[in-house]
Amino acid sequence: MKKILVTGGAGYIGSHTVVALQQAGYQPVIVDNFSNSEESALAGIESILGVKVPTYRIDCGNEAALRGVFEAEKDIKGVIHFAAYKAVGESVAKPLAYFQNNVGSLLTLLAVMPDFGVENLVFSSSCTVYGIPDALPVTEATPTKPASSPYGRTKQMCEEIVHDVSAAPTNKLRTILLRYFNPIGAHESAKIGELPLGVPNNLVPYITQTAAGIREKLTINGSDYETPDGTNVRDYIHVVDLAKAHIVAVQRLLDRKASESVETFNVGTGHGNSVLEVVQAFEKASGQKLNYSIGPRRPGDVPAIYADATKAAQVLGFKTETSLVDSLASSWKWQQTLK
Ligand code: UFG
Repeated sequence: MKKILVTGGAGYIGSHTVVALQQAGYQPVIVDNFSNSEESALAGIESILGVKVPTYRIDCGNEAALRGVFEAEKDIKGVIHFAAYKAVGESVAKPLAYFQNNVGSLLTLLAVMPDFGVENLVFSSSCTVYGIPDALPVTEATPTKPASSPYGRTKQMCEEIVHDVSAAPTNKLRTILLRYFNPIGAHESAKIGELPLGVPNNLVPYITQTAAGIREKLTINGSDYETPDGTNVRDYIHVVDLAKAHIVAVQRLLDRKASESVETFNVGTGHGNSVLEVVQAFEKASGQKLNYSIGPRRPGDVPAIYADATKAAQVLGFKTETSLVDSLASSWKWQQTLK
């Protein structure tokens, strides 16, 4: 079994990818500092897979500790790098922490990988790199615009770092940059899922916590956008579908099929849904009415963005399989397992 190091492997997308890797015949190895993830994710992974996944409780930005992992595991074939801070609002309040953690951990990884002959990297990027796009849907060739938050800027900077490192004459690194749209949902077993800390920033955990009675009501952030129903439009992708994109990306790198040293793919469904449509789909999925009201716009929100998913379909053979209603049903099932 080929070993794949998964930084942030106990996190939301990381945990689902660890499960998908093992099920696809790889040996995942988790690195996580548990700063924004829970030990319970490891129990969930083990319960689904029936085996323990080797896990190192270290900070990916700690070079000596990271070297120790590569030494101990010896034959790592590739890395999927999830470990990063991801809250847009928090990044405005703590920009330095975001640059140190998100950029710092990538730099450390890129410094260590060549010393162990590891040449394959899948990097977690985001549709946030497009800023406010001029035209929809966005393709990988859509020019990036200024990011609306330090978080978004860290993703843009990390992409540029990967390009510059890859352009060096002696470079052997091969990278696939995956630009995720909005991941939602949970594993069908409801043994792993999203574990937001405190009051959720993101739409779907806020919806499920409201339905569970933890929050009084959802506030929709504005209904006066130039979109069909006035609310923001996003491309919501089921996290298990998203996890599968990492498997095909890793396979492509290991098969040496990548046509360039850095390849970029949008990972979305190709469909945009408004916030109101998500609320309606949730009501259908859960069979209950959601308490919500319309509030003011949230600063920094992009009015509408969704993926052109053609490149991932044509080059990677990747297509999403889960509908919005089914994705939300899995979120609801997961919420009901939480206290
Ligand atoms: N929304 C509400 N009410 C809420 C929460 C969200 O109306 O209580 C709306 C938002 O205004 C937005 C949509 O729901 O229109 C989705 O919001 P999310 O916060 O779930 O996600 P974003 O589209 O803001 O995504 C951003 C970045 C991503 C990043 C993600 C992670 O664009 O790159 O946050 O937090 F990955």
